Amino acid sequence: MKKINLIGSTGSIGIQTLDVIRSHPEKFKLEALSFGRNFEEGIQQIEEFKPALISVSSDDIAGKVKKEMTYTAPVLYGQEGLVEAAVYGDADLLVNAVMGRIGLEPTLKAIEAGKNIAIANKETLVTAGHIVTEMSRKHGVKLIPVDSEHSAIDQCLHGDSEKEVSKLILTASGGSFRDLSRKELENVTVKDALKHPNWNMGAKITIDSATMMNKGLEVIEAKWLFNMPYEKIDVLLHKESIIHSMVEYIDGSILAHLGTPDMRVPIQYALSEPDRLDLKGGDRLKLWEVGALHFEKMDYDRFRCLKMAFEAGRAGGTAPAVLNAANEVAVSLFLEGKISFLEIETFVEKALDSHTPISNPSLEEVLSADKAARSSVLTYLN
Ligand SMILES: NC(=O)c1ccc[n+]([C@@H]2O[C@H](COP(=O)([O-])OP(=O)(O)OC[C@H]3O[C@@H](n4cnc5c(N)ncnc54)[C@H](OP(=O)(O)O)[C@@H]3O)[C@@H](O)[C@H]2O)c1
Repeated sequence: MKKINLIGSTGSIGIQTLDVIRSHPEKFKLEALSFGRNFEEGIQQIEEFKPALISVSSDDIAGKVKKEMTYTAPVLYGQEGLVEAAVYGDADLLVNAVMGRIGLEPTLKAIEAGKNIAIANKETLVTAGHIVTEMSRKHGVKLIPVDSEHSAIDQCLHGDSEKEVSKLILTASGGSFRDLSRKELENVTVKDALKHPNWNMGAKITIDSATMMNKGLEVIEAKWLFNMPYEKIDVLLHKESIIHSMVEYIDGSILAHLGTPDMRVPIQYALSEPDRLDLKGGDRLKLWEVGALHFEKMDYDRFRCLKMAFEAGRAGGTAPAVLNAANEVAVSLFLEGKISFLEIETFVEKALDSHTPISNPSLEEVLSADKAARSSVLTYLN
């Protein structure tokens, strides 16, 4: 029985993680659960799974939860509560499914507490990949990818030596606007941006997919997870999202991981690896129905956010933290209707241009660069 702490339980990944736990009660037990403000979803989860510790984003939500729940367990709140939920008890695994940079601290504390991390929260590795990977080595804990692309690569690699790998090939669906020209992108709406052609995900990552920043964050995440230089990471446009990613070896062989676009598959594998479990209620891939798979070379001038992510990754130090922080704020501004779609990349570019990266930064330096980037993006509004 694997004991699990889950943070971000009411989000797209969180709900699907609970679905996996629900389908295998003999294998997994939920110990601690954390969510933000979605009380209706959260209270149902609490009543069903009866976790021994709960944390929410604020005092008022904590009060509502305490009033409504039918058993006794501590209900914490705020960043402190989020961290407590991450490190709680003798859980074997933390599933980090919160959105954004707030996921970094719980990851670091859970590593210190000796817990393996199933990492969906990509902003953690983008912001402080050097610190997270170094700490996980020091404490002997595993960083297990949840993102479908990294899970695919992890499964293809299957422990193969880095020296035998010539390239990691991340596939990208291209997001909601993949068939639009840059001219056509000038007037797109939030509603259109939220319609992903293949995946049903949270709002921020859906916008990141449309700008291709999501793939950029994944490139940086891949560098840290698989210890690969950027020269050996490639992105390929593959609209069907059937091949989740590939590994090319020095002899020219390419191993690919295929499946339906169902996030429960990589989530379940992250929980059960190295074993595989039956996926209850999942569609099987019927290649005869798919018929043909298509691939296109990535156009880095069309998808500028991806180009910026490679540049920030190569610059290293605090640059990826600035890329991520500026993007988080710009995407929120877009979702609030305050800036246009194309201004997301303009704002991120401005933040990167005005930042001089610090190499091999401490955690404090990373957090300070993150904070400064968030403030500077807000000034671009005026
Ligand atoms: N969705 C996918 O298919 C997918 C695929 C690969 C990777 N990822 C990555 O996984 C992460 C989560 O994505 P998602 O799409 O699941 O996001 P999401 O649907 O927006 O969910 C985010 C979760 O974080 C919680 N949260 C937000 N602020 C919080 C706070 N201050 N304290 C505690 N909890 C807080 C939210 O709670 P409330 O909703 O209750 O406020 C929600 O449970 C992201 O880093 C994303 O890039 C997602």
